Amino acid sequence: MRYQPLNPQFYIENRKKVVGEIELNSLVILTSNSEFPRCGDTTMPFRQNSEMLYLSGIDQEETYLTLAPWHPVPEYREILFIKNPSPEMVVWFGHRLSKEQASQLSGVKTVMFTDDFQDTLQNLMCYAQNVYLHLPENPRMRWEPITREHRFAKQLMEEYPLHTYRRLAPILYPMRALKAPEELAALRRACDITTQAFGRAVKAVKPGKYEYEIEAELAYEMLRNGATGHSFAPIVAAGPDTCILHYIKNDKVMKDGDLLLMDFGAEYANYAGDATRTIPVNGRYTPRQKEIYSSVLAIFKETIPLFKPGMNIHKINDFVFRRMEEELVKLGLLKEADIKAQDPAHPLFKKYYMHNTSHFIGLDVHDVGQRDWTFQPGMVLSCEPGIYVAEEGIGVRIETDVVVADNPINLMPDMPVEVEEIEALMN
Ligand code: GLY
Ligand code: MN
Ligand code: MN
Repeated sequence: MRYQPLNPQFYIENRKKVVGEIELNSLVILTSNSEFPRCGDTTMPFRQNSEMLYLSGIDQEETYLTLAPWHPVPEYREILFIKNPSPEMVVWFGHRLSKEQASQLSGVKTVMFTDDFQDTLQNLMCYAQNVYLHLPENPRMRWEPITREHRFAKQLMEEYPLHTYRRLAPILYPMRALKAPEELAALRRACDITTQAFGRAVKAVKPGKYEYEIEAELAYEMLRNGATGHSFAPIVAAGPDTCILHYIKNDKVMKDGDLLLMDFGAEYANYAGDATRTIPVNGRYTPRQKEIYSSVLAIFKETIPLFKPGMNIHKINDFVFRRMEEELVKLGLLKEADIKAQDPAHPLFKKYYMHNTSHFIGLDVHDVGQRDWTFQPGMVLSCEPGIYVAEEGIGVRIETDVVVADNPINLMPDMPVEVEEIEALMN
């Protein structure tokens, strides 16, 4: 394995917590992610769904997990189903987990092959009234129902229409938002590798090179440190493209005098790092770039200490939006009188700061957790203010990941961020 697996006790505890919250006579069924076709007989790189990872740690396709705590046969109360690693399959695809390995990783005692899934499912269903299934839930994003989870839910409801079906997400997501010590360790490692990747990339930046050359430096350092790679498509944007929030083409030449905005993160043990730095391509910020950078940096530094228990993302935004107005006035981009007269539904700062300041982070880079959720110790969120002045071709974002605590913990404290530090590194 590329990474140190988490302690199986973590998964045992997570399953115990879920069982503690479901209704009497319930069955929980989780299925792994699909392998998405790429073309011909090849697939996209497999990424396990985060729920399966959270409750079992099994990072392998074609896996099911069932929890049936009221089943009369103790061995049937927790079952993991894995693909049968037949010799033919191993010839084509290489090693797959044995039953013993799957049991060791997950702490689940009963492991069967998926060949036995349908018959065993019939048995489990006969002893259950409610069935808890997971479908991805995010009030701000609708996905086409194309996943294996969707297909499985539809099939099951068709075959067993007399059961009561329940949503697992409202139970699982609040649990996932609170990170256990093992998870914090994995996130720390992801963030350390992210920091190292920046250290390598920054030295490679020069006028005349392509953005993708820097993307490659980031990936190189991530991979050689045991990360799976980027935790999301990295943004390596120079010049005017620094103002394109989700620019991922990374295909242009970096010019003398440009800024380079790099938004990137390593994925380690399926946990995501997420960082942004904005640096001068030629090693020196122009006076105007420095001015805008310093405004963002000031807000960044003032915001990190606000990731305390009791806060939420809306309150973080309220602070940042107000500070943003002050800085935009200082930068000559907004006028105080105009701000006073603005329509509160369409504040003027949105022209230069269009996104939010924070999102939860964990197994997914935009992890489960909503903007009104009250921060609790052990939650992890990004802090990412930015100013984008399209008419000047200057976009600046600075981002790190923060653990909620009375003294909030910056997970990337060693990634250079001061103007002098960055210029010194580049010269
Ligand atoms: N990389 C996406 C984000 O910062 O939210
Ligand atoms: Mn980011
Ligand atoms: Mn982010």
